[in-house]
Amino acid sequence: MSSAEEARLRALEAKVCSFGDTVHYVDHPPIFTGCDGSYMYDREGTPYLDLQMWYSVANFGYRNERLNNVVKRTLDTLPQIASQYLHRGEIELAAMIAEDMERKFGMAGRVHFNVGGAQAIEDSLKVVRNACDGKSLMFAFEGGYHGRTLGASAITSSYRYRRRYGHFGEKALFVEFPYHFRNGRGMEKEEYASAIVKRFARLFETEYNGLWDPKTRQCEYAAFYAEPVQGTGGYIIPPMNFFKELKQVLDDHNVLFVVDEIHMGMYRTGKLWAIEHYGVKPDVLTFGKAITNGLNPLAGLWAREELINPERFPAGSTHSSFNSNPLGTDVALEIMKMCAEKDYETSVAEKGKRFLDGLKWLMGRHDAIGEVDGLGLALRIEVCQPEDRWTPNKALLDKMVDIALSGGLEHNGKKIGLIPNIGGYYKNVFTLAPSLDISHAEIDLAIELFDQLFTRAARA
Ligand SMILES: Cc1ncc(COP(=O)(O)O)c(C=O)c1O
Repeated sequence: MSSAEEARLRALEAKVCSFGDTVHYVDHPPIFTGCDGSYMYDREGTPYLDLQMWYSVANFGYRNERLNNVVKRTLDTLPQIASQYLHRGEIELAAMIAEDMERKFGMAGRVHFNVGGAQAIEDSLKVVRNACDGKSLMFAFEGGYHGRTLGASAITSSYRYRRRYGHFGEKALFVEFPYHFRNGRGMEKEEYASAIVKRFARLFETEYNGLWDPKTRQCEYAAFYAEPVQGTGGYIIPPMNFFKELKQVLDDHNVLFVVDEIHMGMYRTGKLWAIEHYGVKPDVLTFGKAITNGLNPLAGLWAREELINPERFPAGSTHSSFNSNPLGTDVALEIMKMCAEKDYETSVAEKGKRFLDGLKWLMGRHDAIGEVDGLGLALRIEVCQPEDRWTPNKALLDKMVDIALSGGLEHNGKKIGLIPNIGGYYKNVFTLAPSLDISHAEIDLAIELFDQLFTRAARA
């Protein structure tokens, strides 16, 4: 693509594309023309090491040959079928997910498909409300993100996503998430997490606390929505006691536990589902994003049999023309098979440790890093003021993003770019989601490029 063609496309975009359907985080986003493995390429062929991987969608690398071949095969056999009919891919995929859930959590259940993450959340709200006789109130976490449809926005903590549209239902009651670096100073992580659960449990102490009727043992709230590790919130990793203690309170008060694995599922944290680290059982689990490596939209949910059997949740309870589309289900099935063959549990944990060691080394060199942390290949760098290494420093992070996306970093005398992802309550956190197949050399390169970025941005 020539520079004139790029200029033409930019002018056209400014005129005809809605800005409302994306974040437009930077003023001048690069136009990419190719991708492969862990890299995106611009029109000059400059590589950009991608540490975002399409918001943890392309976990298995860009243009993954094995997965692309499945799409090509399906294109030549059964690429289209109305969602009211059946095909092998959807049934076998549902079976693989349901059997895995039964093996890990000891519960029978069913899998229900839709197209995007937010739609899967909408469907989960229907499953929950239906199971709880129409109760419509939910708990969710401060800093949580569940998508931007109207229902999903109501259980996502940011008012920003609701402002301008009015309310279409009750918003969730948002409970503090164990964000130890910001809110738990002076306490051990586990002690801080327990204190949050104790504060939450207080809401159920007597009928006067407002949401529990001890006589009927009924809670006014139907379910608690949780990301095991907060994604958009800044890759915040709760300590291992947190969900066990929280789940005990939920079980004691008949509140369902809905686990949103749309971001952290598919081995991002080193387990198929991030909740597996925490030793608790979900009642409903939502998935999306990396389930197809981004090749064709597919998302969905698993729910316990009691909540979703056909008598409880009959045919047509939800519907989308595109759900269970064979391009999506066939590639997702292949991913599940690939994951069963490859030992991602070991490799993601090992690569994650190498990456986190590199981030700790960076922290020793740059005072603007307040905290680094990681679970598998979900890693975080919190960018702060150098004086106290705590006050959020979004201005420095923004400078770093501009430099990274300009493609003007250097490696072995050649130009290279870096694709970061930004998250966190103060938008001062690099949330790193590299390819799960990232090589050791690429991890070391990522550390080297971050080292350059911190140095250059501090000088700029
Ligand atoms: C935890 C979580 N849930 C739901 C969603 C919404 O998914 P989608 O963007 O596919 O609608 C996201 C998207 O980032 C997410 O991170």
